[in-house]
Amino acid sequence: VVLVVDFGAQYAQLIARRVREARVYSEIVPSTMPVAEMLAKNPKAIILSGGPSSVYAEGAPRLDREIFEAGVPVFGMCYGFQLMATTLGGTVDNTGAREYGRTPLHVSKSGSTLFEGTPAEQSVWMSHGDACSAAPEGFTVTASTDVVPVAAFENDEKRLYGVQHHPEVMHSTHGQQVLEHFLYRGAGIEPTWTTGNVIEEQVAAIREQVGTKRAICGLSGGVDSAVAAALVQKAIGSQLTCVYVDHGLMRKDETEQVEKDFVAATGVSLKVVDAQERFLTALAGVSDPEEKRKIIGREFIRVFEQAQAEIVAEAPGDHPVEFLVQGTLYPDVVESGGGTGTANIKSHHNVGGLPEDLEFKLIEPLRKLFKDEVRMVGQELGLPEEIVQRQPFPGPGLGIRIVGEVTKERLDLLREADAIAREELTAAGLDREIWQCPVVLLADVRSVGVQGDGRTYGHPIVLRPVSSEDAMTADWTRMPYDVLAKISTRITNEVADVNRVVLDVTSKPPGTIEWE
Ligand code: XMP
Repeated sequence: VVLVVDFGAQYAQLIARRVREARVYSEIVPSTMPVAEMLAKNPKAIILSGGPSSVYAEGAPRLDREIFEAGVPVFGMCYGFQLMATTLGGTVDNTGAREYGRTPLHVSKSGSTLFEGTPAEQSVWMSHGDACSAAPEGFTVTASTDVVPVAAFENDEKRLYGVQHHPEVMHSTHGQQVLEHFLYRGAGIEPTWTTGNVIEEQVAAIREQVGTKRAICGLSGGVDSAVAAALVQKAIGSQLTCVYVDHGLMRKDETEQVEKDFVAATGVSLKVVDAQERFLTALAGVSDPEEKRKIIGREFIRVFEQAQAEIVAEAPGDHPVEFLVQGTLYPDVVESGGGTGTANIKSHHNVGGLPEDLEFKLIEPLRKLFKDEVRMVGQELGLPEEIVQRQPFPGPGLGIRIVGEVTKERLDLLREADAIAREELTAAGLDREIWQCPVVLLADVRSVGVQGDGRTYGHPIVLRPVSSEDAMTADWTRMPYDVLAKISTRITNEVADVNRVVLDVTSKPPGTIEWE
């Protein structure tokens, strides 16, 4: 494993993905983890991420010097680079000369491990205030910028490397190459990790964990739960029963689609539970997003427990149903504040939303994977395109796309609007280009309109089309105006009580993809 030490910005996840794209397995650890604990994981290399702080800021995260003395190759980026410089005796000045955005980098030395085969002038992404003016002893300076004399340094003997820029960002034109040079040449790692390895490893681990017992898997209609279910089915076959909870927060025709597509593709045994009343009752009067998420997470589990009892009652002589399979992904874990020092941004229903008295043991075979990797696993498991390439849909469903209290009437209204948007996006051939397009009902906001010669006092619908690689960051999609116009006209014409359609033009950050 390659460890990516997270200094508290969003960069660490991107770095971890880029390392995996280089076919090397990576994991994120918080910078507060003691170095001894990091080393106990036997990392083949360690990458120090960027971070929001200045190395001079009070309370700025530090690292024990030991990390550079253990013989493990280390690559520092941005904040990680400056930390490496100061820890090893180099000089970092608080010059006030900021560099932000695309910056020309001058590679000053041929024969560099990191920059081998890349142009002497290249464009990189910078984001820093302090600047390194002298490399630590034993290091060779291999790049500079107009502002920063030391923008990269290397020590082949100790296998320590650092760059001031962000190689993980696409705007650094040779960033992936620089990262791969570190991994392959600097650290001598072979690029052997594939999603195929994941399947083999997980199948073996799940068999061992479950033994002869039984498991149930919640299917949501989304990619993640489908792939998790298929993976577990590969491991334990008929010991798995899939449970589809119809919580009434689904999109139009979703239930029928799960019943048809997924069962046809996998032949798994499926139990459909109608729990609409239950969820609506639990959500009545609640408009706080975190509270909604927690309620939905809890009710899911209660329904699973009930399903478990029924499955046991149907075949009482069989082994106990002890396990619950969930399609939790790495970003869910990271964004819910689990495992790293990252702030809790929102409680994804299947991580932070789980009740404390959970009786199931969890199986989460995708817990270390990013979305695109999950899709690859799904493909390899033979799931059809319609499932694997589906746009992401959150477990709490339309419940977190109604800003305000969730009611049956509002859900029906939003379902209609969402179905229209999806239909038009598909008709316009935009499904692949758009990562996902949440359709949000501003139930607590009312707007005045004029329709059919009369005044209306209805609600706005928000379209939130985003483009993204992994949902960690996203940009709003520049969609053709005529498609937007068509969606707007149809929604206001066809959906009662909606007299306005607005477009969300916020990237992530600062906005999250979902409104709640
Ligand atoms: P945000 O809103 O955090 O969303 O930018 C990132 C991605 O995660 C999806 N999402 C969820 N998925 N359970 C899920 O399974 C959840 O509780 C949840 N909340 C957000 C969201 O649709 C987007 O793809």
